[in-house]
Amino acid sequence: MTIPEQKIEEVRAAANIYDFISPHISLKKRGRNYIGLCPFHNEKTPSFTVSEEKQIFHCFGCHAGGNVYRFIMDYQKISFIEAVQEVAKQVGITIEVSETEQTEGQSEQESLLDINTAAAKYFLDNLLNSHEGETARQYFERRKIKLQTIRTFGLGYALPAWEAFINFAREKNIDLNKSVQLGLIGKTNEGRLYDKFSGRIIFPIFSSTGRVIAFGGRILENRENAAKYLNSPESIVYTKGRVLYGLSHAKDDIRKLDKAILVEGYMDLISLHQAGIKNVVAVSGTALTEEQVQLLSRYTKNVVLLFDADAAGMKAAMRSIELLLQRDMEIKIASLPVGEDPDSYVNNFGKQAFEEIINRAQNFLEYQTDYFQKQGLFNEPATSAEAIRELMKPVALINDELKRTLLIKTIAKKFNLREMLIEDELRKILAGQHKVELIEAKRREVTESKVLDSILPAEKKIPQQIINLEVELIKLLFEGSEKTVELIVHHVNEEMLSSDAHITIFNHVADAYNASADLTAGALIERIKDEKIQRYISNIILEKYTVSKIWEEFHPGESREKILEKYTKDTLCKYKHAHLDERANEYYTEMENAGNDEKKIDIMKLLRDLNKEKQLISEELR
Ligand code: UTP
Ligand code: MN
Repeated sequence: MTIPEQKIEEVRAAANIYDFISPHISLKKRGRNYIGLCPFHNEKTPSFTVSEEKQIFHCFGCHAGGNVYRFIMDYQKISFIEAVQEVAKQVGITIEVSETEQTEGQSEQESLLDINTAAAKYFLDNLLNSHEGETARQYFERRKIKLQTIRTFGLGYALPAWEAFINFAREKNIDLNKSVQLGLIGKTNEGRLYDKFSGRIIFPIFSSTGRVIAFGGRILENRENAAKYLNSPESIVYTKGRVLYGLSHAKDDIRKLDKAILVEGYMDLISLHQAGIKNVVAVSGTALTEEQVQLLSRYTKNVVLLFDADAAGMKAAMRSIELLLQRDMEIKIASLPVGEDPDSYVNNFGKQAFEEIINRAQNFLEYQTDYFQKQGLFNEPATSAEAIRELMKPVALINDELKRTLLIKTIAKKFNLREMLIEDELRKILAGQHKVELIEAKRREVTESKVLDSILPAEKKIPQQIINLEVELIKLLFEGSEKTVELIVHHVNEEMLSSDAHITIFNHVADAYNASADLTAGALIERIKDEKIQRYISNIILEKYTVSKIWEEFHPGESREKILEKYTKDTLCKYKHAHLDERANEYYTEMENAGNDEKKIDIMKLLRDLNKEKQLISEELR
């Protein structure tokens, strides 16, 4: 399927990149741009930059970058066409496509998601309507799950047969190999296919936008040598550590209440939701990951951990605390009576009792202290000192200094220690951490220069000054000023440019200018299909300092247009001069090697011409 270029541009022009990024990432205004934590790599200090003016984004940590389409593609892991459709839908522009065309050009991801959707519907149908589904229906009844809840979460049942899903798939022309890839169908060593979830209760796992990306399957009766839960393997539509179960159902309430309750299991989340407690997400079976924390932090900074009251739950809570603190999340830990999990508790004691549990949640220091106390660590001076040191470790993870100081006071008071002592301990921990940060910064520098190296020519020996000025001119092309583009297109030609990448960029911009097309960065970047070059552009044009910053300081009060024009002229002048100086250098070398005076005089004439040319350029670009 193809969408006409014109349509792609129309949709892009109607969309504001900020509106597409801000629902997912918390952005802060910084100068002309917005910054936030990059969704494409793990970071603690924001290097993800969004420019509303230029309609592009760039991460200075991992070098992801581009316009609104690139963001949607990378963020939702969908194809370009899908990204255009998605943006079109949100800005209210219709793109007509015939159905046949759509299946032809459908992306791999989209076809896998379609299979999952079909499977989920099939499992739901089994549960609600099939004769064999009776046992499953009774199971849910026993667990007090209502029909409405089954529908809300698309719960289902996989018939207890070898080939029930396989037959369904064959009937519906569903690709069996892809179903194997998705873990819906298994393959024996002999190559025989079988239903993977056979006889299990099905929990579809949704992406944060509500697509079915995987399944969890629970065994009906606990049996010894069968796993209680079977989960889909990772696939191109499912990365375990990046998904929080129930987020698509919970995100509105999490935002509204500015608080999320983190539980362990599918059933915990579902029962709480049914009871009207909807700001809940589940880690479901894995230790909490950094990506999950990052995902959650887009919706709220306040998290209540509610893990099972067993040793495993306690350990999981401790590990999660560190990750959450690193992201400056506000953490509380709630505990249930031994033997209960959130599902059983809310079913046994009701919503109100559950809310009391949440309200009684402790902060992590209290929780950890209690935990150490129960282990008897405070009975001996030696273990006691060790425990206090352990308590300090998470404190050191908090970036917010004020918060840290407050916690130090709390600890000091609690254990009757002098604050100084604790601060010393903290300094030691921080000193260790600082080293790690330095290493991270260094690594970032290396990758940054790698991006530039990969795009700039290796063979040609071009003076750094020329390259710098050229980069400056490229930046200026993306400032959204027609006058600036006009000047550069007029004064620069292909032969002057130092690399293929720069030539590609320059030619595309010149084309757009000649066609009187949109000259915003977001539009220009769309014309350049090469992803590497797109990243390169977003990198240089969103760099920490803006092109005209220095000039604004020198010419306060002048309009931005005027400043840009002056700066462009000045840069062009220097750039062209630098090229002529380069030629002059060659002449000088020639002159040194010239045998006779006649030749020398010729070269001197050429040098004089060069000087004249330089003067003319200066006058023209004044
Ligand atoms: P639990 O064993 O606490 O199960 O595992 P549960 O959620 O309370 O389920 P019920 O109430 O017995 O039906 C907590 C979560 O850990 C994951 C599942 O996501 C489960 O919901 N898990 C557990 C697995 O992925 N695999 C397993 O074998 C067990
Ligand atoms: Mn349970």
